[in-house]
Amino acid sequence: MNGTNPYQDDRGNNDRSIANPTGPGEFPQRKGGDAVAAPGDGPFLVGEAMTGGYGRSGPDILHDCTIAVDKGEIAVIVGPNGAGKSTAMKAVFGMLDLREGHILLDGEDISRLSPQARVAKGMGFVPQNHNIFTSMTVEENLEMGAFIRTDDISRTMEQVYDLFPILREKRRQAAGELSGGQRQQVAVGRALMTEPKVLMLDEPTAGVSPIVMDELFDRIIEVSRTGIPILMVEQNARQALEIADKGYVMVQGRNAYTGTGKELLSDPDVRKSFLGG
Ligand SMILES: Nc1ncnc2c1ncn2[C@@H]1O[C@H](COP(=O)(O)OP(=O)(O)O)[C@@H](O)[C@H]1O
Ligand SMILES: [Mg+2]
Repeated sequence: MNGTNPYQDDRGNNDRSIANPTGPGEFPQRKGGDAVAAPGDGPFLVGEAMTGGYGRSGPDILHDCTIAVDKGEIAVIVGPNGAGKSTAMKAVFGMLDLREGHILLDGEDISRLSPQARVAKGMGFVPQNHNIFTSMTVEENLEMGAFIRTDDISRTMEQVYDLFPILREKRRQAAGELSGGQRQQVAVGRALMTEPKVLMLDEPTAGVSPIVMDELFDRIIEVSRTGIPILMVEQNARQALEIADKGYVMVQGRNAYTGTGKELLSDPDVRKSFLGG
């Protein structure tokens, strides 16, 4: 790692000096007021005690699994391949029929809502695979992202372009022609077009170089600074936990370890088994 890595000095995500010295406010919350003021004391978004799998008769993949993110925070889910991280994210987004457990958004039980209805409630989701339309231009991808909106989206699009300036340059290009890191920017930008209250990212840095990964993490921190909590799966476990307020280690569909990013990074068992010592 080079000396300019802003995540190395242990300041943690609550140090507001990292990415947004001018304070929050670039991505205004959905109209309708101060919706992020949760009625309860619970986390802003939680998939609680989730048990279930794919289809009606498929085996359970998730076993009493809980993942959550609080207001103003970044929560990171790590764990080996096949642990069920993506399945847990899909469950929170409403793509699985859970046998047990429930999903709460801002204190409201949304367990029975369709994914589309959850988007309307303020959830933004970037899946691990097929998260952009490769034959459409960058700008068309962003327009598609705003499909549920009936108001003027141009301001949000400018905000996305301010966050990811390369996308403004390439807005007329087919998204499939972009590099891996740029495609991930399109995918995140697309999700931001609905002005979500919470953003879920499944491996946003998959397949990119360490430098591009740092850059993407920087942008993700910047998004979180604007008041959008982020629930994210990452295979770059160490780097992700360094920017995490809360971390989950998932193994075989279960919560194996939960703590602050710092706690997990210093836990000898977590280090040995999941962080390469
Ligand atoms: N669409 C699907 N249908 C059936 N089983 C699936 C599906 N997607 C994933 N699985 C299974 O669920 C388990 C967890 O996969 P996944 O959630 O993708 O893990 P991770 O994201 O942690 O790598 C694996 O055993 C995988 O084979
Ligand atoms: Mg996955």
